[in-house]
Amino acid sequence: MNNLAHILSEIKKIVGENYVFTDQETLNNYGHDETEDLTFPPHIVVKPANTFEIAEIIKLANEFKIPTTPIGGKTGLSGGALSVYGGIALSTERLNKIIDIDEKNVQVITEPAVITQILREAVADKGLFYPVDPSSLGSCFIGGNIAENSGGARAVKYGVTKDYVLNLEVVLPNGEIIWTGANTLKNATGYNLTQLMVGSEGTLGIVTKIVLKLLPKVNHNILMLVPFYKAEQACEAVSEIFKAGITPSALEFMERDAIDWSLRYVEGISVAVKPNHQAHLLIEVDGNYLGILMQEAEKIVSVVEQFEIDEVLFADTEDQKNALWKMRRGVAEAVKANSVYKEEDTVVPRYELPKLLKGIKQIGEKYGFKSVCYGHAGDGNLHVNIIKANLSEEQWQKEVPKGIREIFELTVSLKGTLSGEHGIGWVQKNYMDIAFSKTHLELMEGIKRIFDPNNILNPGKIFPDEDI
Ligand code: LAC
Ligand code: ZN
Repeated sequence: MNNLAHILSEIKKIVGENYVFTDQETLNNYGHDETEDLTFPPHIVVKPANTFEIAEIIKLANEFKIPTTPIGGKTGLSGGALSVYGGIALSTERLNKIIDIDEKNVQVITEPAVITQILREAVADKGLFYPVDPSSLGSCFIGGNIAENSGGARAVKYGVTKDYVLNLEVVLPNGEIIWTGANTLKNATGYNLTQLMVGSEGTLGIVTKIVLKLLPKVNHNILMLVPFYKAEQACEAVSEIFKAGITPSALEFMERDAIDWSLRYVEGISVAVKPNHQAHLLIEVDGNYLGILMQEAEKIVSVVEQFEIDEVLFADTEDQKNALWKMRRGVAEAVKANSVYKEEDTVVPRYELPKLLKGIKQIGEKYGFKSVCYGHAGDGNLHVNIIKANLSEEQWQKEVPKGIREIFELTVSLKGTLSGEHGIGWVQKNYMDIAFSKTHLELMEGIKRIFDPNNILNPGKIFPDEDI
């Protein structure tokens, strides 16, 4: 990086010596998120204290055209937080306060580096409910959830991050600060910049304050695990449950290997899985009236019994429920512990799920790779983990991407798309042509240019390589 010494001394003037880092350990530590085995160390890590310091840093970055990557909890799976061109890694971690839980309006105003689970627990203490719960909720930041429009298991009933965002304070790539909307449930006033910002993967601005709508707390739930002898039948059962008039609060699919690996790598859980169980559905219903939930659970059992299943396991205690969720949430980590892998976040209309699963397996056979599939079946959102195992470097770099391209072509032909909740980031950008025409991509690139003409903010993400 040119001018490194000058930039460093200017940044130190803004945030103070103690919050600027150039030692290799810190650079490596902030050079990766949870995406595959990738690390791109920045030249500088900076930890500003507030919106105004962020604005000053961004003005400097814009003046000297320094790539600047916003960093949250580093739990992303598409490479959004990778400093692929080096430059400044701007960690929001010191903006970690919940500013106000507004019980009168059932809203919360928060800074971006609050861990999602801490936010959920804080509002729950006031009898309120923030339903979005990505698997990484114990370590991801709410700001990162906004950047990637995160979903998670409860999205099937409650929606994803975007459905709760009312208003955002944002530092734009020229260092100016705006509020994108208003703290209202309705807003028909001009273009919706709030929703444009959600899911923009840190390429249009840095979110520094967030206004979320909340719900009243829900008091009861019933959780069951259904073992299937055939994985495709588990997928077929998913849309049947909705057809029977039930909207579960979670409807998760796990292939055999997903459960096996989770049981092997995540400590402190044990679930009886028989050798001939090929897949499981983890199904939850929630609400305030236990009697109604029991009727819904019975109805679900009567639907899944039309398929080849083993005995349904009902979680009787909170401990059992926690164990089942720990097993489900542990899959990504377990796969990572097992092998180098690539993760694709495919999503199709729910009814097409069996065709997607079948197609993925056929493509895997054609290109010689194994995949472990699991995810939010109720949303048609299937995480496809492609396992490197014994594949040669040549196969991994050249052949597997061809297979991934075919998987995405399949999702799009089923009226689905490339990512349901992880974003495009660095690792999926070269597949964008499958989902979008040139005209469509040019519109998006035009938006990026209006916000960020110097392309300083999280460059190298979303858009295919030669395009921006
Ligand atoms: C999950 C993450 C990987 O569903 O999205 O566990
Ligand atoms: Zn997921």
